[in-house]
Amino acid sequence: PPLDEILNLHDFEAVAKVILPDKAWAYYSSASDDEITIRENRAAFQRVWFRPRILRDVTSVDWSMTILGQKSSLPVYISATALGKLGHPDGELNLTRAAGKHGVIQMIPTLASCSFDEIVDAAQPNQPLFLQLYVNRDRNLTKRYVQHAEERGVKALFITVDAPQLGRREKDMRMKFIGDDDTAAAKVQENQSNVKKNEGVSRAISSFIDPSLSWKDIPWFRSITKMPIILKGVSTPEDAILALEAGVQGIVLSNHGGRQLDTSRSGLENLIDIVAALKTRGPWPNPNFSVFVDGGVRRASDVLKALALGASAVGIGRGFLYAFCGYGEEGVDKAIKIIADELEMNMRLLGARNLKELVPEMVDASALSSH
Ligand code: FNR
Repeated sequence: PPLDEILNLHDFEAVAKVILPDKAWAYYSSASDDEITIRENRAAFQRVWFRPRILRDVTSVDWSMTILGQKSSLPVYISATALGKLGHPDGELNLTRAAGKHGVIQMIPTLASCSFDEIVDAAQPNQPLFLQLYVNRDRNLTKRYVQHAEERGVKALFITVDAPQLGRREKDMRMKFIGDDDTAAAKVQENQSNVKKNEGVSRAISSFIDPSLSWKDIPWFRSITKMPIILKGVSTPEDAILALEAGVQGIVLSNHGGRQLDTSRSGLENLIDIVAALKTRGPWPNPNFSVFVDGGVRRASDVLKALALGASAVGIGRGFLYAFCGYGEEGVDKAIKIIADELEMNMRLLGARNLKELVPEMVDASALSSH
């Protein structure tokens, strides 16, 4: 369908499913094991209800904000999703260009199918970018990568901590990875040795990830960069407190889009308990410690629910990925506009004129299973 017939982020997914080659669809859409967690990521948002306030003069609503000190036109950032060229010849650059145009922040994946420098070169002069890091067994390689990113102006480092090994994504495993005829994955494969070619894309590209990563490594990361460090993939209050004590600048409550430990809870469900735990350890909101949420966010109403419950901002992975599969950069443009339109309408209907007015009392989260 023409782009002007796309009304919401779900429409982009429906288009991607029809037009993508089987292998790309399997890699993007798959989640681990029985795919319970990916289902719950969406379902959790649907268990939270709004408590809208009325008669507040909502003529103008304003959601201006910053993420880790960087101006963002939405309380949403583009989360890292690997191998963009499986979905569109311009891959991640579709995200970079649209993000630059609209003042949205993109998190560059370690496993991007465009090179890191190509992506930074496609950005506008002052466009803020974040970097997602998979830590290599070769720490010198990781150090060079991180320091290069900082030199090129990247504003924050998101270290993925929920993937010491990639989950079993069985849809993807049923596809054979054929390095040579697969330009997107071949590029990543070039830099790594010993890739397994017979178990899907995920396994093939991930063999360099260091499973020995531990809390003891955090001071080393602190010593090699001045960028804010965020741990991506935290699920419990225990680990949230450890992260705070380790001196990092934030966490992402995430289960990697359901692609890692199946039947782990959604970020949204974990948010309430984690915020409650952090509140016992100092000021809240804490200007030096951000709490992000991702997983299943497809509507501005989802965004508003997470923010009301204490999230600093939310990440979207597949929503933007599917937008460029069918329509390239223009699809991402449209996805951003859709979220902005939905935000404006929903803030009016909710009676929140700005993000400060978005308080926990505006949602009823009593149906979340942790409550
Ligand atoms: C991801 N995600 C991810 N995360 C990460 O830290 N490094 C990575 O390389 C990838 N790659 C990746 C590929 C694909 C195809 C998907 C769908 C996801 C996880 C991503 O950053 C984010 O946590 C989830 O995508 C959020 O869930 P939604 O928005 O996709 O539901």
